[in-house]
Amino acid sequence: MDKFIINGGASLRGDVEISGAKNAILPIMAAVLLADGKSKLDNVPDLKDTRTMVRLLNMVGAKTNFNENSLTIDASTVDTLEAPYDLVKTMRASFYVMGPLLARFGEARVSLPGGCAWGPRPVDYHLKGFEKLGAEIILEDGYIIARAKKLKGGKIHFEIPSVGATGNIVMAAVLAEGVTQITNAAREPHIVQLCDVLNDMGAQIEGVGTHELTIHGVDSLNPIEVKIIPDMIEAGTFLMAGAILGNITVNNVYPDHLSIVLQKLEQAGCTIHVDDDTISIEKADNLEAVDMTTDVHPGFPTDLQAQWIALMSVASGSSVITDKIYHDRFSHVPELVRLGANISMENNVAFVRGVDKLRGAQVMSTDIRASASLVIAALVAEGKSTISRIYHIDRGYEKIEEKFKSLGADIQRECD
Ligand code: UD1
Repeated sequence: MDKFIINGGASLRGDVEISGAKNAILPIMAAVLLADGKSKLDNVPDLKDTRTMVRLLNMVGAKTNFNENSLTIDASTVDTLEAPYDLVKTMRASFYVMGPLLARFGEARVSLPGGCAWGPRPVDYHLKGFEKLGAEIILEDGYIIARAKKLKGGKIHFEIPSVGATGNIVMAAVLAEGVTQITNAAREPHIVQLCDVLNDMGAQIEGVGTHELTIHGVDSLNPIEVKIIPDMIEAGTFLMAGAILGNITVNNVYPDHLSIVLQKLEQAGCTIHVDDDTISIEKADNLEAVDMTTDVHPGFPTDLQAQWIALMSVASGSSVITDKIYHDRFSHVPELVRLGANISMENNVAFVRGVDKLRGAQVMSTDIRASASLVIAALVAEGKSTISRIYHIDRGYEKIEEKFKSLGADIQRECD
């Protein structure tokens, strides 16, 4: 298993190119299964999760070609309507193939995802939504089987605006007979791009970018060409490293997607300059502690909570950080404490007292974003840190160590 060896303390300076968004590419790869033909996706991040989704698409019979951040998917040969346990257990987003397979072929058999490092992550909204569209849902041998000769429009309300359930149900509803209304839908930028892509394929989705979607079902969709939006979480991660360590510019970003994060960084004392598709940050002379609560878009993303805690670990003063989306998503906290952070937990709230210095240590990655917080903390810490199990970070960050190295960080990958 690969490790990162990081010698902390180096300042960061320069520009970094942000890759395409992981959370946009995965549902869009599933969405192209809805069309009989060849689609082309550009600005595709070369991630372990993208490669897992490519394997899954190949397993269902699609033909793919992934080269230099460009991916073609020919979904005219799809003949297997199953997502096996071995893939779904490594990447929950595999569940996204359920909506498209069910809508186009009338059946899908997808392994039920288990728990994850951030506690239970149910898929009940997805399943209730498919039922509202007329599908029969059964659980057999750990697999969810969904069947419907032809889906029918329905009214669906989500208690929480779930990203995954919104994406999955929209992908099913675009080929359903009649009208589907989804209330309290997610409106994260990646869900907006998914809906835009489906509309470009010939779907009729109204209300894109709001919490209320109205979908008029159509008979069939066409293949498309699309460029994946920039990864706001990757950009936010680099900006948080810059906030403590230097003066950096992230290129190829949509600054609007990060408004709340930029506000928080300014509140913490950083200087931010925003241009059309770049954001520059100058580190704060004296980083101030700032409280933060995660929320659905346009709130502060839960995918940047771990990195914010790393930042607040070295701020002056105390901060209170609450995760409203995932209450158990704090596996990075004991690892940050190993690096010298002063953090205590009560339920879904972290109380962080800023310390003058973190010190290098051996720590372990537990999930994608937790790993990113450890990289930031280790880059700040005095001395050498080793971060093990970095396969987690490879799931969601493209060439992260090369990007940090180009900014001046002392970070090496060691292969066992
Ligand atoms: C997606 C993102 C993940 C991000 C999360 C929240 C992808 C591949 N992953 O995950 O990076 O952290 O959004 O922005 O895009 N819920 C239920 N039942 C369901 C579905 C969700 O109770 O059927 C709850 C969850 O437990 C959670 C909340 O809804 O409390 C939000 O989850 P959701 O938005 O669905 O997250 P994911 O789509 O799994």
